[in-house]
Amino acid sequence: MPQAEREERLRRYWDKHACSYDRQMGFFDRHVFAGSRDWVCSRATGRVLEVAIGTGLNLAHYPDGIQLTGVEWSPVMLDIARHRAGQLGRAVDLRHGDAQALEFPDASFDTVVCTFSLCAIPDDQKAVQEMARVLRPGGLLLLADHVEASSWLARAAQALIEVASVPAGGEHFRRRPIRHVRALEFTIEDRDRFKLGIVERLAARKPLHQGPPGGEGR
Ligand SMILES: C[S@@+](CC[C@H](N)C(=O)[O-])C[C@H]1O[C@@H](n2cnc3c(N)ncnc32)[C@H](O)[C@@H]1O
Repeated sequence: MPQAEREERLRRYWDKHACSYDRQMGFFDRHVFAGSRDWVCSRATGRVLEVAIGTGLNLAHYPDGIQLTGVEWSPVMLDIARHRAGQLGRAVDLRHGDAQALEFPDASFDTVVCTFSLCAIPDDQKAVQEMARVLRPGGLLLLADHVEASSWLARAAQALIEVASVPAGGEHFRRRPIRHVRALEFTIEDRDRFKLGIVERLAARKPLHQGPPGGEGR
């Protein structure tokens, strides 16, 4: 299937699942992700970009005083985020857009956030590179996601689940965004990995001066 057609299908998948998303995610937030939204959002400062913001579940977790922009490619998810922002009284510039080709100039943000979306964005490496591009030198990248487990048994189960989840909804279970972050020579300032290594969250600082592009997979 051509890439554009596949991506359109995934957008429609998220449109279709938008109304049940908060309920489903609520279970994982309570029982699996262990306060990851607070962990991530409490570190955000200044001009903040949230990539693939979904229904805006992070909105209630950001501190006051930040200037927030959110990007999301599913119009229905974005509508729910708009509604939530209104209910919370939070000013946020919400835009339709693709995480793999962000519309912002280089170095536009002090903080870039992405939670539980790098598992779903078709090209996660390109998305991390885009996040790094729009982050100012010395800015902070904050990620949380479910990733490849550290136990082989759990990894085998994840491989099995992916047989269905990738074709159905583009949901990957064995990615490691931290590898892309390291390849960009960011400094990992803080990191947690738990639940058999299935959940990983990290705070990584963009170098003030970037060397030549680094190799992958270190
Ligand atoms: C599992 S949800 C996570 C939503 C939100 N970040 C959260 O923490 O609840 C994944 C989201 O990524 C969005 N998404 C996937 N690929 C995208 C892309 N290329 N550009 C923008 N959004 C994308 C989906 O539409 C969906 O809203």
